[in-house]
Amino acid sequence: MKIFAEKIAIVTGAASGIGQGLAHELARRGARVVAADINGKGAEEVAGAIQAGGGQARAASLDVSNDSAVQKLVEETAREFGRIDYMFNNAGIGITGDVKDMNLADWRRVIEVNLWGVIHGVQAVYPLMIRQGHGHIVNTGSSSGLAPWPSVVPYTTTKQAVVGLSTSLRSEAETYGVRVSVACPGFINTQIFSSMKYVNIDREKAMRELPFWGMSPDKCARIILRGVEKNKAIIVVGWDAWLMWHNYRIFPGAYIWANRFIVKKVREQKSG
Ligand SMILES: NC(=O)c1ccc[n+]([C@@H]2O[C@H](COP(=O)([O-])OP(=O)(O)OC[C@H]3O[C@@H](n4cnc5c(N)ncnc54)[C@H](O)[C@@H]3O)[C@@H](O)[C@H]2O)c1
Repeated sequence: MKIFAEKIAIVTGAASGIGQGLAHELARRGARVVAADINGKGAEEVAGAIQAGGGQARAASLDVSNDSAVQKLVEETAREFGRIDYMFNNAGIGITGDVKDMNLADWRRVIEVNLWGVIHGVQAVYPLMIRQGHGHIVNTGSSSGLAPWPSVVPYTTTKQAVVGLSTSLRSEAETYGVRVSVACPGFINTQIFSSMKYVNIDREKAMRELPFWGMSPDKCARIILRGVEKNKAIIVVGWDAWLMWHNYRIFPGAYIWANRFIVKKVREQKSG
């Protein structure tokens, strides 16, 4: 538990859900948190709540798809605190529907936030961590980063890339004393399902059919931090994520066959 005390941590996507949970839990364990989000007001509320509870936090308005803004935040944080110990590249957005109904703009926005957002965070903080000789980059992937998942194909594409980026960089980074982990949660009860883009899908119908077993974002954050303490390469969060991952590895044919039911189910949610 002590490993986070007085440590400097940036969390992106900290205004809501898993990022908010991470910001609170890190501060509770004594870290100084920079809560960054495109929703600057939401980030301020989270930082304010942490301060009100006796923790140390400040807010930053940040669009992770903007490389120079991410670079600026990292430089400012390093200047203010003298170092950065943890970088949680967590911000993400969702999209659901049939690829046949999507356009390039749909793909681009998801890739810009979920993949380029992580790359921007890595490229900004990694050289600094190498100079420091320590640091831990924690990227938020997803269970869909570990196994195929139709109906959210651009999202799955970015999350599989984030898993590949993280697990591959990990071996390079360890030679410089820098750690890299990727968190792969299953279904977590957050705003992402109401804020995501539904392409030719009836939002209400889809929301009604969300799985009932969603984990709270606070519990998810605690599991992620436990994995960070253990320096796990892949932090799988939730039994559903674990099942997906293992089923796909052990029975890939059966897993892909079962994906047909997801395609059928989501097509039943089509609007119009
Ligand atoms: N909720 C789940 O079931 C689940 C499962 C696996 C992985 N994830 C991943 O967890 C991460 C957090 O998602 P969540 O479920 O907490 O969703 P959320 O919608 O509750 O939180 C996401 C936060 O990211 C912020 N954000 C969006 N675009 C941004 C941008 N361009 N720059 C900076 N901030 C931005 C949003 O304002 C929001 O505060 C995402 O990467 C998501 O893909 C979520």
